[in-house]
Amino acid sequence: MIDKKIIIANWKMNPPTLAEAKTLFNVIRHEAKKAGNINVIVAPPAIWLSNFKTGENENLSLAAQNMHWKEKGAFTGEISALMLKDAGVKYAIIGHSERRNYFTETDEIVNKKLRSALKTHLIPILCVGESAEEKIAEKTSETIKLQLIKALEGISKIQPDNIIIAYEPVWAIGSGAIPAFDEVLSVNLLIKKIIASIYNRKLADKIPILYGGSVNCRNARDFIEKSRAFGLLVGGASTKATEFLGIIKQMDIL
Ligand code: PGA
Repeated sequence: MIDKKIIIANWKMNPPTLAEAKTLFNVIRHEAKKAGNINVIVAPPAIWLSNFKTGENENLSLAAQNMHWKEKGAFTGEISALMLKDAGVKYAIIGHSERRNYFTETDEIVNKKLRSALKTHLIPILCVGESAEEKIAEKTSETIKLQLIKALEGISKIQPDNIIIAYEPVWAIGSGAIPAFDEVLSVNLLIKKIIASIYNRKLADKIPILYGGSVNCRNARDFIEKSRAFGLLVGGASTKATEFLGIIKQMDIL
């Protein structure tokens, strides 16, 4: 059962050394211990996942930034859901726009990865979001709807505690630009509506929907309060200790 708000640190391909990664991780772990009201999830570069063990009852878990959909085999450079699970990883980010755009990850691939994660009991963090062009063409709803329908095609075993959805407008990622809070609220409600139409209303009401894209210490609270996001997926700001701790502290008191 998802009872606490969620904050995810997506470090992407940062920081450059293990020593820096350890320092950042330890600072986050310390703050996570103090924060009783939120689940803190850290997604470091895959090479360091096994350096950061987290305890069963700790308020901190690990996520992979990506995974392959096959369990094993001749897939040079790839890591399977099974391997991640074995390394103590609990979540996997799937369909991030950087994977979709720079590594030609299609909706079909996203669907395969989702199936594999769910089968392995790795909780997928499914990212959806419109590009700048789609926003200008007023195709946000259409884009989100298609991405969700394709990602979830043929998947029946969805529960509120085995999947997380993150709405990340592509144009807001790393740009410093953010959508209006009521726009995020509308997309949040749209996602619920789509989930209700594919599955049922009960699931739609409970499924955690996060916001991601240029989240910082100053806007974090508004995405939770005004946009009713269940949590935040933070990129750039999650690699700056003071900024990220500031976001954790704010979310913890909401
Ligand atoms: P950002 O990235 O916070 O740097 O915009 C968010 C993300 O890519 O998940």
